[in-house]
Amino acid sequence: EANFNAIHTLLAPGDEAVVMLPNYMQVWGVAYNLGVHVESFHLKEDAGWAPDLDELNSVVTAKTRLIAVCNPNNPTGYILTEQEMDAIGAAADRVGAWLLADEVYSGAERLTDTPTPSFWGRTERVLAMGSLSKAYGLPGLRIGWVVGPPDIVDEIWARHEYTAISATMLANKLAAIALSPQVRPRLLKRAREYIRRGFPIFEDWLNAHEGAFTLIPPQAAAIAFVRYHLDINSTKLVERLMNEKSVFIVPGDHFGMDHYLRISFGLPPDYLQAGLDRM
Ligand SMILES: Cc1ncc(COP(=O)(O)O)c(C=O)c1O
Repeated sequence: EANFNAIHTLLAPGDEAVVMLPNYMQVWGVAYNLGVHVESFHLKEDAGWAPDLDELNSVVTAKTRLIAVCNPNNPTGYILTEQEMDAIGAAADRVGAWLLADEVYSGAERLTDTPTPSFWGRTERVLAMGSLSKAYGLPGLRIGWVVGPPDIVDEIWARHEYTAISATMLANKLAAIALSPQVRPRLLKRAREYIRRGFPIFEDWLNAHEGAFTLIPPQAAAIAFVRYHLDINSTKLVERLMNEKSVFIVPGDHFGMDHYLRISFGLPPDYLQAGLDRM
């Protein structure tokens, strides 16, 4: 909802936006459906999923109203370096564009206990999105937030009153408990434990299929974006896995990248192993 209302606040039909790809495709899709011209810059697999900053600088023009990034990234789990964050901020500043930073995976790091730094404060025009759904493991509460300049947040809030209208009292109460100093670290630890326990199980499974997969290990999030070396379309493969094995993973097609699969591994070990065994 935060992403949806932010796009509707900042952009109008005919505007231009630049979106990092691959990405959770919501911002791309909401902008596109609004009649926005959407350009992109890419995370490059051969650079360990680092962003192509030359491409970013070539697609950001005086017409760009918004640059949208997802950090840590869904689906690759890549975490931008401070230098890359600064370069993206500078690209936005150069043309006076807004930066929409979807940071819902911050706190779900695999290799460090230090949460991924926010884009907030890096340039003047930043909206930083957070949520209880990922690192806190509480998607059912439907609570998220936008950090941004008060005037823009007011405008987004006005749209919130036309969309969700309000969060439920129960969800708000539980969210306050989840974010309290006593509970917050425990929830983040729980997510990291799922990620850190699940990844080696997943990696063993990949290694047991030598030659079938290539993976740049995700730095964060309980998902891996795996390239597979089989002669089958990713949607067809996923449909077969659903219908024949009752296993659900996400086809690369959903990210515009056939021959990739997004696979979740942040699951209880027995459940994860059973799913992998079926595949
Ligand atoms: C990058 C990203 N942003 C936003 C969302 C939406 O999350 P929420 O459940 O908080 O609405 C998701 C959900 O998968 C996501 O991956």
